[in-house]
Amino acid sequence: QWTTASIVDEQVERIRTQVGDGKAICGLSGGVDSAVAAALVQRAIGDRLTCVFVDHGLLRAGERTQVERDFVAATGVNLVTVDARERFLDALKGVSDPEEKRKIIGREFIRVFEQAERDLKAEGDYKFLVQGTLYPDVVESGGGAGTANIKSHHNVGGLPDDLQFELVEPLRALFKDEVRRVGTELGLPETIVQRQPFPGPGLGIRIIGEVTFERLELLRQADAIAREELTLAGLDRQIWQCPVVLLADVRSVGVQGDGRTYGHPIVLRPVSSEDAMTADWTRLPYEVLERISTRITNEVPDVNRVVLDVTSKPPGTIEWE
Ligand code: XMP
Repeated sequence: QWTTASIVDEQVERIRTQVGDGKAICGLSGGVDSAVAAALVQRAIGDRLTCVFVDHGLLRAGERTQVERDFVAATGVNLVTVDARERFLDALKGVSDPEEKRKIIGREFIRVFEQAERDLKAEGDYKFLVQGTLYPDVVESGGGAGTANIKSHHNVGGLPDDLQFELVEPLRALFKDEVRRVGTELGLPETIVQRQPFPGPGLGIRIIGEVTFERLELLRQADAIAREELTLAGLDRQIWQCPVVLLADVRSVGVQGDGRTYGHPIVLRPVSSEDAMTADWTRLPYEVLERISTRITNEVPDVNRVVLDVTSKPPGTIEWE
């Protein structure tokens, strides 16, 4: 019978066979997938795993602390944090095409891991890179038989051709709900296992237009407000995720106090889903939408309008880019 425990046993065995007595590094994003992949590999090879958390500056408020504190507390894993904020922003300068952004982010991630590997050289050779790639990531990046490339997930289609690592991807055949069960089986806490998905390219693909430091700051504030209100309303388990998107190249006229404004719209994209392959837009209570809208337009500078995305997947994807 195909139980969660048997998935764990089988993957641990496979990882041991693949890695042998080698060492691996694992990129942690703060999300469920990389956390579960890391915990699986840790079970297989113990402290021959080192986790690397890249702060690419495209993170949401509080995410770095969550990894540095909660994940380490739960697993006791070796963790190195790399501050790569300037590097990613420089690489993204002037770029607004979604696929180009994804490829740049995927490439920079790998370059940072390669640098981390060189820095760790004194402790031995890290030949393997662990990634939390799931089955739907493979399919949507055009990796499955007969599938089209819809978007290049940063850890699949976004990888550079001259990759220095051998990949270890223990979740490649699994869907999100299975990954959550595996995480629970491995003893990870609810706060990690039940986290809503957040894409590796982060806020970089939720700014429609060029990514700049100022725009990231705006979006981080708007996102924090939306998350706070959804949590307060007890809706976290009801929605799959709620991307908050900044239409950075769009402006509209508004009025605030006794003056004209000419600001940017923020889009709320609450979705319900089983596995992210298809999704429906979530019918959030009007009072909650109202609170989010009022707070965002009052508290976030340069944002004067909040709109709601009422598109299913298909035809829309969950993320706007
Ligand atoms: P889409 O936008 O394709 O998203 O409907 C499906 C799910 O995947 C997440 N997503 C990503 N996750 N790297 C990730 O780790 C990526 O490049 C990426 N792109 C999308 C998205 O948040 C949703 O849960």
